[in-house]
Amino acid sequence: MIKPLRKAVFPVAGLGTRFLPATKAMAKEMLPVVDKPLIQYAVEEARAAGIEQFCMVTGRGKTAIVEHFDIAYELEATLRGRGKDAELRSLRDWQPAAGSIVTVRQQEPLGLGHAIWCARAFIGDDPFAILLPDDLILSETPVTKQLANAYYETGGCVVAVTEVPHEQTQRYGILDVGADDGRLVEVKGLVEKPKPEDAPSDLSIIGRYVLTSGVIQHLSRMERGAGGEVQLTDAMAKMIGHEPFHGLRYEGRRFDCGDKIGFLEAQIAFALKRPDMGPAVKQFLSGYCADLFPRG
Ligand code: G1P
Repeated sequence: MIKPLRKAVFPVAGLGTRFLPATKAMAKEMLPVVDKPLIQYAVEEARAAGIEQFCMVTGRGKTAIVEHFDIAYELEATLRGRGKDAELRSLRDWQPAAGSIVTVRQQEPLGLGHAIWCARAFIGDDPFAILLPDDLILSETPVTKQLANAYYETGGCVVAVTEVPHEQTQRYGILDVGADDGRLVEVKGLVEKPKPEDAPSDLSIIGRYVLTSGVIQHLSRMERGAGGEVQLTDAMAKMIGHEPFHGLRYEGRRFDCGDKIGFLEAQIAFALKRPDMGPAVKQFLSGYCADLFPRG
């Protein structure tokens, strides 16, 4: 019997050094794309996939994330008093149920695998999704929902994958590819951040996973991998052959919000999608680009 997918883990302990000085006193996951923090996009995406329990793996300086999902009584009372109903709704519409969010501390930056292992009591024997908030995906169907569907279809682990330029394999977990129907890919092996000459393919994992709890026993060994860190990819590689393991070429466009250019692109793409501001942004861009790239 396939266990229902109800849990998600959000590793949010990273320092955000690529966004200094913005992230000196602020969690990078609180950086907004238009008017919503990255972490809220991730939590909303998980909820849209039927997730009911959320675990944030945090570290020092991340209290704003926890506050963000709490009820802000004073703020709400002020908004109510001023008749600001739309603003009030913008706070309440996505408020997770009481008791549905837990946090655990990672304590030391020992890698993504270690972060997930820190959530082991939350995970128990259940399947769970992982969402890395840095990866923001614009899609018709939320990517975690696409992965959840593939999990119910295959009965095993599924990771979101996309082709990357060959010279960039060193930035990602890379698949050794078995049977491939163009959408679902059978995973024969996984390598974390291989040099292009060692990469078994150009198909890379992006920050969305649905895994079974079996990964925890492999993480428990705390074996160090690429960069001297405990790598989730290495633990997942050990599951291959013991249970179904697939990559899903998701529908959607991914923005790497851990990177300044990717973050800027996300701002533009998400703003253009918004009915309340898309036309104004388009008008600005077309005027600005016309000045930058005059015709003829
Ligand atoms: C992590 C994973 C890597 C994956 C990537 C996706 O790397 O270790 O396998 O491809 O996320 O964004 P990081 O970006 O934390 O270095």
